[in-house]
Order: sequence, then structure tokens, then C-alpha cells
Amino acid sequence: MDRKQIINDPQTGNKGEAFEAYDDIPANPNLQRTIGDVIAARYGRRELLKGILGVSATTALFGATALSAPRPSAAAVSPEQGRYNFAELQWGNDETHHVADGYDADILLRWGDPITADAPEFDVMNQSAEAQLKQFGYNNDYVGFVPLNEEGSRGLLCVNHEYTNEEVMFPGLGRQDRADFAGMTRELVDTEMAAHGGSVVEIARGDDGKWQVVRDGNMNRRISPLHTEMTIDGPAAGHPRMQTSADPTGTRVIGTLNNCAGGMTPWGTWLMAEENFHGYFWTDKLDEDGKPDLSEQAEAEQMKRYGAPGRWYAWGKYHDRFNIDKEPNELNRFGWVVEVDPRNPDATPVKHTALGRFRHEGAETTVSSSGHLVVYMGDDARFDYQYKYVSDGVVSEDPAANARLLSEGTLYVARFDEDGSLTWLPLVHGEGPLTAENGFASQADVLIDTRLAADALGATPMDRPEDAQPRGDGTAYVMLTNNTRRGADQVDAANPRAESSFGHIIEIKEAGGDHAATHGHWSILVKCGDPALAEVGAEWNPETSENGWFGSPDNCAFDAEGRLWVSTDQGSGWGKTGKSDGLYGVETEGELRGHSKLFFRCPVGGELCGPYFTPDNETLFLAVQHPGTDGTKALKGFERASTFEDPATRWPDFDPKMPPRPSVVVVTRQGGGKIAV
Ligand code: FEO
Ligand code: CA
Repeated sequence: MDRKQIINDPQTGNKGEAFEAYDDIPANPNLQRTIGDVIAARYGRRELLKGILGVSATTALFGATALSAPRPSAAAVSPEQGRYNFAELQWGNDETHHVADGYDADILLRWGDPITADAPEFDVMNQSAEAQLKQFGYNNDYVGFVPLNEEGSRGLLCVNHEYTNEEVMFPGLGRQDRADFAGMTRELVDTEMAAHGGSVVEIARGDDGKWQVVRDGNMNRRISPLHTEMTIDGPAAGHPRMQTSADPTGTRVIGTLNNCAGGMTPWGTWLMAEENFHGYFWTDKLDEDGKPDLSEQAEAEQMKRYGAPGRWYAWGKYHDRFNIDKEPNELNRFGWVVEVDPRNPDATPVKHTALGRFRHEGAETTVSSSGHLVVYMGDDARFDYQYKYVSDGVVSEDPAANARLLSEGTLYVARFDEDGSLTWLPLVHGEGPLTAENGFASQADVLIDTRLAADALGATPMDRPEDAQPRGDGTAYVMLTNNTRRGADQVDAANPRAESSFGHIIEIKEAGGDHAATHGHWSILVKCGDPALAEVGAEWNPETSENGWFGSPDNCAFDAEGRLWVSTDQGSGWGKTGKSDGLYGVETEGELRGHSKLFFRCPVGGELCGPYFTPDNETLFLAVQHPGTDGTKALKGFERASTFEDPATRWPDFDPKMPPRPSVVVVTRQGGGKIAV
């Protein structure tokens, strides 16, 4: 389907789904290297032609036996003996959220809640950019927490606001991608911009064990693409390709956008990942098919590889810097990782170019056994790559020294080989193909064009790498959410299913348990989807119940006990499972490895982000994003797309005058205590 067909497809319930469906069209040139090539390389073309190896060769070479975790026999150990001590929640999908028995899941912060002392109360019928810049933003995604006292009863919540859904956010507007954005006035665009970015909000736990917002907290602030000035540092800072008419130095930029997941550093700063930045750029030049005409763009090849300009928001109609016809280089100033010091509201956030430019899903950190800072980062697109960054220096007690760790280091991209070995390929100018003859004149070019550099190195095209979480012992887990565009001839060992609707999780074991290592091994922890349906090809620990399996892993976290928790984002695909998105405890060790258990589930149409555990393991923060929007045509009795006036749920207020509101939920144990212990 072309773009117009996708936008107008009655099955596409909202702009976000259309955005994702269109983005399904892969742009990675490495796709030519298919399993056919791999088999040919190993067995030679003659055997293939002779028919010795057929479809079954795929299974023989890359089947479950070789690379998946060893499966314990059924009933060897019962789930009650597992590491997650809670009574499993019943699966389902309805208008509200649910948590396992014995826990409270309270609403802590909703879109529009005032977060500064001078903020106006939320008035959904009279929204403005000015008010929104003092209120909690839209579509909360990453959640981090910085304790402010020894007991951890006060702290700063750091929350990303990824994007906006205009049809449920503003009254009387409807889907603007279908209307060529005719309804998007300057005022609405600025309000959208003010609702993006992030929030720092002080919270405190009362004697009753409940968390409350400290509205006059002097560190509370909003970060947005409308008003927050940032510094650009690292090898690409100041490069001519980073210069614009508003910033001839190439070192200052206003704002950050599409902040999806992120991470916290060991020194207490917050990393905001810029994900689908391409969608915010505009052009007035379209070809006959309605696609951007890049024929006059000097960087057309790079723009194409990044899917830019996406034209999914009308910001470029009113802000020239988001129109590539006028300011093509502004595009190069997005797609980075931003570092924010939440404890210093006067500190200018920094975009770190050393961590590369791609659709950064998250940026989870760890300290390697050798003391280096390591950041794991996925590029969330079909057939894009898994990356990690290793600092040159080591983490120290000196905050000033730590400030350089994200500026000087090496970015690597992953190659997952069919024998289960993993190689981290360095993106360093002058090494291998990353030379001027191949279009990379400097390290700045390598980083601005990270995707093209990774293509040249022969990285492995993955099934949408979302969050990746290191555990500190040289182990990391990579969430691969789905890839319905992978053809049968494109499967490989690390992406073993064609037309994968439900995704899988890869476990990485770095050599010597050192996160800074350039080699390691990998295996598949679980293949997601319904294990009762043979055609799905799911693989779970056989003790997993009908409540416990899931589709489309997205975000993940370790708690203080070192246990893995995974949250899901099935998008409109939840209709394929019937289950709402949720949070699952997934066993990684021992006889129950690959066992999953449902702890929390979202209201209909919402995706579950966060999760984040406080260091004492007594509190879990979850972010419910876009409640009421995704796939609501599959909701029995509703069966239509949500709008402001007619949403599938009015969670969490259930007020007939209020649309659904993205909100942060705080989970605590009734009567107190650690979660799931
Ligand atoms: Fe913003 Fe890839 O999820
Ligand atoms: Ca995500």
C-alpha cells in the first residue's frame, strides 16, 4: 500500500498506526543478505541447486535446538518455586488497568496535571502552549527516579513525553493526517510541541506509604522542543552539516522530540532518547505519488535512509526549522541521545553526538567490569540495528570527569552470527569501509550518518530493536518487538521467524562478563506469541500459563533483586492476542528460564512504558501511554476508532467531559514491603 492508502485504510485506527505501518517499508540496503546467502556461503550454491538443502535446511541450521535456550522438561519445577512471588493476574482487555492481588496501582501523574507552583489547573477545552509548559506532558514513556534522601522517600521522577495523538487530545479535530493537517493552527502546533519532551517532578512518600507530587518542588520543570535550549557536543558538534541559519555554530539547538525510552546514568543524570524524529520534518515538495521529492536535496541519500521528512506533524508549516526546504540541516540535529541533570534546573541539557544518530529507542547504562560506562541502544525500525557505546574513560566519583564519558568513546553496532557468536563492530572513521572514498569524510559524518556507516560494516538487520537492558554482569537483554515485513527468505538465526507479529527476546553474554567487550555470545530467551498455536512458532518455558505469554516486548527493567520485567506494545496488533498490553516477570535462569508471569495490564488501547523500580524495590513506576487509541476496532462492543468526543475508554478519570489521559501509575504493596518478593 502507498502512503495515501495506508492513511485512509479504514483498518488504520489512528495516525500513530498509519505512521508505523508506513514506516514498515524497509530502507536497509543490507537486506540483500538473506538466509539464502548464508546457506550458500556455508554449503555452496551447487548443493542448493541440487536440492540437497531445501526449506528444512533453515530448521536444521537455525532451528530451536541450536540457538534457543535449553528447555527443561515440563513440570520439573513449578512456577511457585520461581523468583516472582505474586499471584498471577488474569489476562484480558477492558477499559481500566489491573494489578496482581495484594498490590495498589494508583494514578500519580496525568497529562495536564500542574507540576509547577504557578501552573494553571488543566482545562482540556482551553489548552495553550503557555499552560502546557507548566503541566505534565502527553504520552509518558520512559520513567526514571533519582532519590533525594537516604530513605528514598523523596525523589525526582524523570518522564519522557514521546508524542501526541491530536484526535483524542483536542476537541473537534479528528485525524489530521487524513485532512492534510488543515485543522492544525499555529496555536495547536505550539501546544503539541509544548506537550512533547520531558518532565522533572519531585514526588514524596507520605506516612501512609502513598506517593504524592510535590507541586512546588524547586527542581520541577518541563523540557520541550518549543522552548528548551540544548548544547550539542561530541565529534559532530559544530560540523557544517550541523549548522543552521539560527545556529551558525552548529552547537546549540532548541529542544528534543519523540523521546521514547531512555536511561539513568550512574551519576544521576537522565538520558532521553530521540526516536521517530523523521516524522516531525516537513516539505512542500511532493512527487506525483505524494511522497517527498528530494531531488534538490544535497543529502537525499541520507534522508531516504532515515525515512525523512515523514510529514506526520505540521510543525514545519509554522516553524521553518522543521521544513527541510528551508533548513535541511535541522534534521541532522535530531535523532540523538540527550543528557539532562534533573537536580540542576539551570543546567543546559546536552545532545551527545558520540552515541550516534538513529531512531534511538532507549539508552540504558551499566558500568563494565573494567569501569567503563556502557550504553545499550536499539534503532527501532524494521531491519535496523542494535548498538552499544563504550566510554574512553572510567566512571569515577568526580562528576566533572563523568561529564566527559558520553562525549569521548566508541560506538559499536552488533553482528549476530548464525553460530551464536556476537561481534561488536566499531563505528570509527578511517577503519574498514568508513573512509572518505565511501562518503565518510570524518567521524562527524560517521555519526550523523550512523545508519549508513552500520550498513557499510555489515551489521545484522533486526526485528525492530526496542529497549535493551544490561544487568551489570556482562549479560543484556534485547527486546525485538516484531517485524511483519521479514520475508521467508530473509530469516536468520537472530531473527528466526518470517512475518513476525509477536517478536522475541535475545540474551547477550559479553565475553568475560565484561560489558565493554567487543565479542560475546547470544541466544534467544523466548519467542513470543501464543504457544498453543503451532503456526505462531512461539517458545516459552512449558510452565508458562495462558496468562503469562505475551506479544511484542518493548520496554524492560531489572529490579533490585536482578529480576527481568518486560512490558509490551502490540499496537493495533493486540487484536491478534486479545490481550491488553502489560507487565510480565520473565525468568532468565535455571529450570524456569523462559517462564513469564502477568503482573499488570493496561486499559484498552494503551501501551505500557516505564517500568522503573526504586532502589528499595518497594515502588514500581509504570507509564500508560495513549490509553484508548490503539486497535480499538477490535474491542467488542466498541469496534471503531477513538476520538476526543467518543473514546473507547475515559481512563483514568472516567469523567464524561475528559478524554483518556496518558498517566504514570505507581505500584506499591498493600501493607508495605518489596514487590514480588
Ligand atoms: Fe517509542 Fe520504539 O517505541
Ligand atoms: Ca518503546
